[in-house]
Amino acid sequence: MNTPSRVVFVTGCSAGFGFRCARALARAGHHVIAGVRSFSVHGQRYAAELKGLRAEGHTVQLVPLDVDHDHSVDTAVRAAMDAFGRIDVLVNTAAYSVLGPLEACRPEQLSAMLDTNVVGALRLFRAVLPIMREQGSGRILQLTSGLGRVVLPFMGVYAASAWAQEAFAEALAYEAAGFGVEVAIVEPAGYRKGGRPRKPVGDTARLSAYSDALIEFGERVNQSEPAGGDPEEVARAIIELVAAEKVPLRTPVGAAAVELLRMRRTMTAEAFEQEIYRRTGLHAVYEDDEEDAEVGAVMTAAEVPSHPPTRGEGG
Ligand SMILES: NC(=O)c1ccc[n+]([C@@H]2O[C@H](COP(=O)([O-])OP(=O)(O)OC[C@H]3O[C@@H](n4cnc5c(N)ncnc54)[C@H](OP(=O)(O)O)[C@@H]3O)[C@@H](O)[C@H]2O)c1
Repeated sequence: MNTPSRVVFVTGCSAGFGFRCARALARAGHHVIAGVRSFSVHGQRYAAELKGLRAEGHTVQLVPLDVDHDHSVDTAVRAAMDAFGRIDVLVNTAAYSVLGPLEACRPEQLSAMLDTNVVGALRLFRAVLPIMREQGSGRILQLTSGLGRVVLPFMGVYAASAWAQEAFAEALAYEAAGFGVEVAIVEPAGYRKGGRPRKPVGDTARLSAYSDALIEFGERVNQSEPAGGDPEEVARAIIELVAAEKVPLRTPVGAAAVELLRMRRTMTAEAFEQEIYRRTGLHAVYEDDEEDAEVGAVMTAAEVPSHPPTRGEGG
């Protein structure tokens, strides 16, 4: 392997991108500390697979980690330092998303999500930065989303957390550069196979007012690209960012993210807005009589089911 081994702390390793990143990083020869919150059935399976990598000669250490709690974050980071004496890279993926109309999101549901996705990121930054400053080097890779700079209907609650994660990471990139610490934002979209279902918004009475629009929206999403992209692309992007001599501030990952962000950058605000109405079927003014070859990108970024979410659905 050409890349030197790094000590990489990955959060959210009981599922999805975190698990895939931890596995790929270990196989690439890095020393991985994998933060795992729950050992539920799926969590146990992924944790067992990560532990199994040790038998193949890879270095993976699992630590309990709930990013909602200062103590848990501090204990996990201390365990990493005890094991390896340094942390070269933080890969922060621990987060979840909420789906549904803003009106139907209960305030406490928003607060809980922000505590995990945004305050959780802050807890991790605060825990690793003194170590990286002392080392005179370090790299923080913050996973956000293709919705970290764009908003789609029914994704506003989640997008608020992704935008906040981006703001934190961008500010930190400036503030930490003088200490030799680099920050990179990774923006995936369109990986429905990779993650668990989004949590539905909590207020079912209000939700019913949006049923027709949600069904229409979900059908368009599912028609556009039912299978979604290969979530291993995200792990490969992380491997490249760990190995790179210098990292860009932002890396969109996946065709849907690239296309969505390109549209946002190249279209006027008004044209983009009209396009979102048209492609989501949410507005009667914009006729949907022209088939657009680009329709898949915006649709897959949203990853919604073909029916309105109910209380029982989601993680
Ligand atoms: N999948 C996609 O296409 C996609 C695209 C763009 C952005 N994203 C976003 O990227 C993030 C990760 O996505 P994913 O697909 O990997 O999701 P996922 O499969 O649901 O995995 C999320 C991971 O984060 C962990 N986590 C959640 N809350 C935590 C907490 N309080 N403390 C510690 N760990 C916690 C989960 O642990 P538990 O097992 O204990 O719940 C799980 O390991 C989400 O915010 C998602 O919306 C996903």
